[in-house]
This record gives sequence, C-alpha cells and structure tokens, in this order.
Amino acid sequence: DPTLVSDLQAVLRDVPDFPKPGIVFKDITPMLADPRLFGRVVNAMAAPFRGQHISKVVGVESRGFLLGAPIALALEAGFVPARKPGKLPYKRIVERYSLEYGADGVEMHEDAILKDERVLVVDDVLATGGTADATARLIGQLGGHIVGYSFLITLDFLDGAKRLGPDKVTSVIRY
Ligand code: PRP
Ligand code: MG
Repeated sequence: DPTLVSDLQAVLRDVPDFPKPGIVFKDITPMLADPRLFGRVVNAMAAPFRGQHISKVVGVESRGFLLGAPIALALEAGFVPARKPGKLPYKRIVERYSLEYGADGVEMHEDAILKDERVLVVDDVLATGGTADATARLIGQLGGHIVGYSFLITLDFLDGAKRLGPDKVTSVIRY
C-alpha cells in the first residue's frame, strides 16, 4: 500500500497543547471516520504478523481498543482489553507506569492470556513506551509470549522502541 503513509499524513491532525501544554496530540479520528483508510490501516498493522500464529491481540484502553479489535479479527486471534484501573469486573492483575503526561496503571483479567500463548500488543501511538511496557509486564505475569508490538504511529524522539526491544516494534508512520 505505497500511498498509505501520505494518505494518513493528509488526515492525521496535530493538536498543539492537548491534553497539556507542550504536548502535540495526534488526532486519529479523521482516519477512523474514513472506512477505506481505516481498513487499510488495519491491514497494514496486521500484515507483519500474518502467519506468525498470534492467538491473542492485546489492545490498551482506550485508543488501543479501536485498532486492536479489528486487527484481532484480521489475524483470526482473540482480543484482550488491557484497561485503566477499576474498570475490569473479574479477578485482575495490575502494573503501574509513568506517561509522557502523568502517571497511570493498566489491568488485565488474570485468565486473559494463557501460558506460552503468542501475543501481539496493539496501540495507536508509541511515545515513551511506558504504556506498552506495562502491558508487556502484564502479559509476562501470565506467562504469555510477546511476538511483537504494532503501532499506528511511533514518536521516534521519545525512544520508546528501545525500551520494548526495537526488533519487535512495527509502525505505519513515524515522526
Ligand atoms: C496515549 C496513547 C498510548 C500512550 C502512549 O494513551 O494512546 O496509549 O498514550 O504513551 P507512552 O508510550 O508514553 O506510554 P492515553 O494514556 O493518553 O489514553 P487514551 O488511549 O485513553 O487516549
Ligand atoms: Mg492510549
């Protein structure tokens, strides 16, 4: 899909000083609203992991849900939500992390991933890698094997890929 990056650049909106001064927010809603472009994004994010026997895709609340669920279907894998604290109803495990703006935590049901299951982590943006790394620790607690990470956008200047293992990280578009 040779024009995907330029087609995305045309619609992804930079919103300065959101949610805090100094942060430039990448608004993906115009991409989600375009069914053809959304489909191409899902295909591009799933493509590196086709044939890799992924049985679970983990999406991180909340923007990771929007991409993780269709990517799970594209890979014929199950979908697992990693949620912000206090949202999951059943027995859960937790990991804390610090964010580009603030601190937070992420939780998963304790039976969401089986031991040695092959897992793909999906999110919209890789910034510092704090969110993805905490999600990886949850998967590790349950004995899952992380095959890779698929992001729509990586912010290279924040070095998040280094934290996750650069060989495991793929993204459609980098800044
Ligand atoms: C944003 C983004 C990623 C994360 C990236 O989520 O969607 O999940 O930050 O930052 P990091 O690499 O420095 O951890 P946010 O926590 O703002 O929540 P949202 O997805 O609910 O909007
Ligand atoms: Mg997020």
